[in-house]
Order: sequence, then C-alpha cells, then structure tokens
Amino acid sequence: MFLANVLDDPACQPIKKSYEYWYTFMEKDVEFWLPDSVWHTKTHSARVLLLALLIGHQKNVNDEEKYALAMAAVFHDSRRLDDGIDQGHGCRAAEYYKEYCREHDLPYNEQTFYITAYHDQDDSLGLSEIKKSPGLNERAILLYQIFKDADALDRFRLGSDGLDVRFLRTEEAHQLVDFAKELLRKSSENYE
Ligand SMILES: [Fe+2]
Ligand SMILES: [Fe+2]
Repeated sequence: MFLANVLDDPACQPIKKSYEYWYTFMEKDVEFWLPDSVWHTKTHSARVLLLALLIGHQKNVNDEEKYALAMAAVFHDSRRLDDGIDQGHGCRAAEYYKEYCREHDLPYNEQTFYITAYHDQDDSLGLSEIKKSPGLNERAILLYQIFKDADALDRFRLGSDGLDVRFLRTEEAHQLVDFAKELLRKSSENYE
C-alpha cells in the first residue's frame, strides 16, 4: 500500500482506514487521462487524499464530508490534458465524477462536484460559485478550503519553494507544512 510507511505515524491512525479504502478505490477504479504525468500522478492524489483526510479530521468533519473530500482527492486531477495549469481540468474531472456515480449507482455528492470543479480556479470564483449554489452551505466552503490546502501542501514536489505558505487558508494546514515535506520524502521510499 502506497504510504504504508507513513500510516503508522500516530497522527495518521484516525484516518488510516479511510485512506486505505479510498486509495484502493482510486487505484482500481479511477481512470487518469495522463498516466505518464510527471506532476499529477496518482501518487500526488494519494498524498492529497491523506492530507485532506487529516485536515478534515482535525476540523471534525462528519462522515459525509469526509466522503466528499476523499472523492474530490481521487478524482480532482484525473482529467488533465497536460501538466501545466490546464485550467478547466477541474470541470472535466467533476463531470467525470458525476458520470461515474451515475454509471455505478453511487451516491452523488454535490460538495465533491463543486470542490473538484473549482479546485483549479481562484478562491474568489470557487467561493462565489459555491455560495450561489442553493444545495450548498458554509460547510461546502470549509471543505473547499480544506481541499485546496491539501492540494497546495503537496506543492513541495515541485521544489523546495513550490509553496508559499502565506496562501494557505486553514490553521491546520499551516501546522502540517513540515509533515507534508516529510510525507513527500517518505513517499519516494520503496513501498509494497
Ligand atoms: Fe488540479
Ligand atoms: Fe492536484
């Protein structure tokens, strides 16, 4: 299991089972358009999954909200056409998620849809679209911020100055900066 060497960290105990479940789901069932991607691999999504679950746990999200974060993590970069900014990949991934739920008779979560669709856009746009959606409330805003922070925390893969921590949105993410660096280092160790 990818990141098995991290999951034994006491900090990961509360989210270990969820991580293992969603990681396995992604490996088996989520198709990525850019399998040879350098920066947006399934391993990136796995780290984002772990970080989103950790921040979510610290923010006391409920099970449905945990589901929303996990699904966003495993789908968010699945519809990239290139490794650049590729604005619009969020929307394509959200449509893929929606279609996937329909085809597999899975419960569709609107929070997942919005988080995924706007994760590659400015917060101002993402937040205004979430606020406009009658089916969503301030919890969706919190989930969007948690998710964007989790995605941002994995920017150290781009280089030691890949993340400007001033742009992190949640206090929990600020506290996880060193953990995220360590996570990246450990994820390149051998795993089975
Ligand atoms: Fe993305
Ligand atoms: Fe990402």
